[in-house]
Amino acid sequence: MADLDRLKARAAEIAEKETKVLLDRTPGSKALHERALRSLPNGVASNFQAGDPYPIYLDRGKGSNVWDVDGSEYVDFHGGFGVNVVGHAHPKIVEAIRKVADRGIHFAVTTESTVALAEAICERFQLEQMRFVNSGTEATMDALRVARAATGRDKIIKMEGSYHGHHDSVLFSVVPEADVLGLRHHVGGAGKAWYTTEPTSKGIPRALWDTVIVVPFNDANAVEQAFQDHPGEIAAVILEPVMMNIGLVVPQPGYLQALRDACEKHGAALVYDEVKCGGTIAYGGTTERFGVRPHLAAYAKAVGGGATIGAFGGEARFMEWVTKGAAQQGTFNGNPLSVAAGLAALTEVLTKDAYDQLGKLGTMLAEGCQRAMDEHDIPGHTMDLGAKGCVSYRKELLTNYRDFLETIPEFFYASFSWMINRGIFMTPGDEEQWTISVQHSEDDVQKYVDAFAEFCQELAG
Ligand SMILES: Cc1ncc(COP(=O)(O)O)c(C=O)c1O
Repeated sequence: MADLDRLKARAAEIAEKETKVLLDRTPGSKALHERALRSLPNGVASNFQAGDPYPIYLDRGKGSNVWDVDGSEYVDFHGGFGVNVVGHAHPKIVEAIRKVADRGIHFAVTTESTVALAEAICERFQLEQMRFVNSGTEATMDALRVARAATGRDKIIKMEGSYHGHHDSVLFSVVPEADVLGLRHHVGGAGKAWYTTEPTSKGIPRALWDTVIVVPFNDANAVEQAFQDHPGEIAAVILEPVMMNIGLVVPQPGYLQALRDACEKHGAALVYDEVKCGGTIAYGGTTERFGVRPHLAAYAKAVGGGATIGAFGGEARFMEWVTKGAAQQGTFNGNPLSVAAGLAALTEVLTKDAYDQLGKLGTMLAEGCQRAMDEHDIPGHTMDLGAKGCVSYRKELLTNYRDFLETIPEFFYASFSWMINRGIFMTPGDEEQWTISVQHSEDDVQKYVDAFAEFCQELAG
């Protein structure tokens, strides 16, 4: 314990020193932040883009690199929160966008290329039918609406700690603070203790709280119990098959199949949120990687090749509800601009071979970071799946959200400024992962590993 306290103290010193260096290096970001504060709350376009005391504002990207507004170059491992698996300004994506710019980027009428992208998405993710939307939020929102329409039920089960976008139905128990976790609802009688359903945002109607049942990830018994406690009331179980907002938490063997079986038994829909997993962990997403199909699934991020897109789909017996009264629409759905980028990404860039290469680079990165932590006795582990991976500062693997609360955030904060000062652009929170692109090289990965090894050495003192 004394050693851990020493490491934490050391991490605080590193964070203080490196943050000062970072602030000295980024006067352009500081100035842009001051300007942005006048028109944008927090000076950013989305709460996730905020930074303390200000975020690093980017100017451009090419290949595996990005440049900030001060002209500093970085290797990009942020990947636009998991979107940029194609890298930046990929020639095939640029060409596709150029072509469509000449031919009309928006009609609100379905085009042949929209149909072609729907076919490509159905083929690779093994969906019978799909519909387009414009973001991951819309994708999970519509998938849940379809599940509710098909079952005629209101309630959903979600995993503690999971994020499924910012619509009202799912903004519950997303990274709840540790101090509220001790509180438990007692529902279903017989003293059964359940996880608390905690709203994550102000402005969520009280009426929705009772529609969300929260259970721990990797616990199929808790899901079965929830079904038994709410007979005939649960429309769907929604989960990220690999939890990706608390590092990387993989499903334990048999877990996904048990959820599918429970949903079948109780007449509900198993809904995968593959917004992050879909285009990153394998050519065919979760279904390919873990072999269990959902009834419905939501996609976004990487499947648009960097353009704004979302999609959801699955079994036709569910999808047909969009023609039987479940509202599913949107002016920009399947617009030619996003579709051109998505089609080029999925059919020309993110091929099966590309995922082999992403997997090799990801494993090289994870192994390099693990070696560095082991050598310096830093309590942590790495996890990688295809283009995604991360360091989590806890020796044992994570199985659910409460394990994540045992990681050591001080180490992450120290590493963030350390890495960024050495040309490695990372996401600003310990809940995120790295994203590698098809334009990353072994040299790029080695730069990360070298900077991280120096960090571990510094931390160990
Ligand atoms: C798992 C998951 N689902 C849904 C979303 C929401 O996607 P979007 O930001 O495109 O609305 C995100 C975004 O980070 C996500 O990580």
